Amino acid sequence: MTILKHLFSPIQIGRMTAKNRLLMSAMSINFGVDENGYVTDQLTGYLAARARGGTGMILVGGGGVHPTGLELPGLPALWDDGCIPALKKMVEAVKPFDTCFGVQLMHGGRQSYHDRKVAPSPIPAPAVVKGIPKELTVEEIAELVASFGDATRRCRDAGFDFVEVHGAHGYLINQFLSPNSNYREDQYGGSFENRTRFFLELLADIKAKAGADFPVGLRINGEDYIDGGWTLNDALRLAPILEKNGADYLHVSAGVYGSKQLTIPSMYVEHGCFVHLAEAVKQVVTIPVVGVGRIKSPELADRILKEGRADVVAMGRALIADPMLPEKARAGNLKCGSRVFDGRR
Ligand SMILES: Cc1cc2nc3c(=O)[nH]c(=O)nc-3n(C[C@H](O)[C@H](O)[C@H](O)COP(=O)(O)O)c2cc1C
Repeated sequence: MTILKHLFSPIQIGRMTAKNRLLMSAMSINFGVDENGYVTDQLTGYLAARARGGTGMILVGGGGVHPTGLELPGLPALWDDGCIPALKKMVEAVKPFDTCFGVQLMHGGRQSYHDRKVAPSPIPAPAVVKGIPKELTVEEIAELVASFGDATRRCRDAGFDFVEVHGAHGYLINQFLSPNSNYREDQYGGSFENRTRFFLELLADIKAKAGADFPVGLRINGEDYIDGGWTLNDALRLAPILEKNGADYLHVSAGVYGSKQLTIPSMYVEHGCFVHLAEAVKQVVTIPVVGVGRIKSPELADRILKEGRADVVAMGRALIADPMLPEKARAGNLKCGSRVFDGRR
């Protein structure tokens, strides 16, 4: 018995059709790769369990497009063709569950846990990670632009349905976008056009190498929630430009390392805490928009969709806690999901 008809209605995203509107958001879980960064059966098992549970779209978290951009040591490496056979095996294990399966592409920039950090400007991250990043040269920027297209081509060759580019959470792309982390005086810094150039160049590279119709979602911040950072007004200005340049969906999140509102919000923050940002972005584009932030229950997910605040709902931790959450909800068991004490947390 399906009562959450909004959540369990299909959606078209570019050439891809997802059977429902639930996306398991990308999460860097720091296990399930070998010494080369190639994915293993452990990560496959973890993701296949979520696919079996009925999630319509699933992202492999935090795949590194370039060795300088690996955020944590235990994340998938996507920077050489050697990664393809293991990714293929993973796709084959997940495919039978009729899930749209994608990879999130990221470069950590100054928010990486190693000593070869690079960034638009030599400004350390405001919190969590220590060390001054090396300022990227224009040649190095070109190499990184190309690394996004190459990684997408590898994911496509492995059989994935889509990729999501991580332009949020204070990582490299977000560092280019935000005035407080980009002091460059060349064509990649200063004006809005210059700060968004890196993002648009890598999107064009992806389209050129993976094909114009290979679905590409973009995760952006609706707010950095930090002094001098990216704001909702910036996001509203950028979103239609991203659509025009071939984005197939926008996933609107928030926060950077050290921000006032945490990207991974605590249990004291209200449910659906970043959905108002997705709702605002939805007013300025026609492509699907994904909302996120402490969406714990299928009922809330369905309500967000019903009220037209987002087209897709992303869940992170709720799907770690209960991989079977979607199937249980579809069967009418709305007691599923993680509930602490009185059901409100
Ligand atoms: C362990 C963990 C790792 C995460 N790693 C990523 C990541 O690699 N990329 C990303 O965009 N977001 C990452 N996030 C953020 C989630 O995708 C999500 O936006 C956030 O957890 C809020 O959603 P939730 O309240 O449903 O968990 C991570 C979150 C967690 C809990």
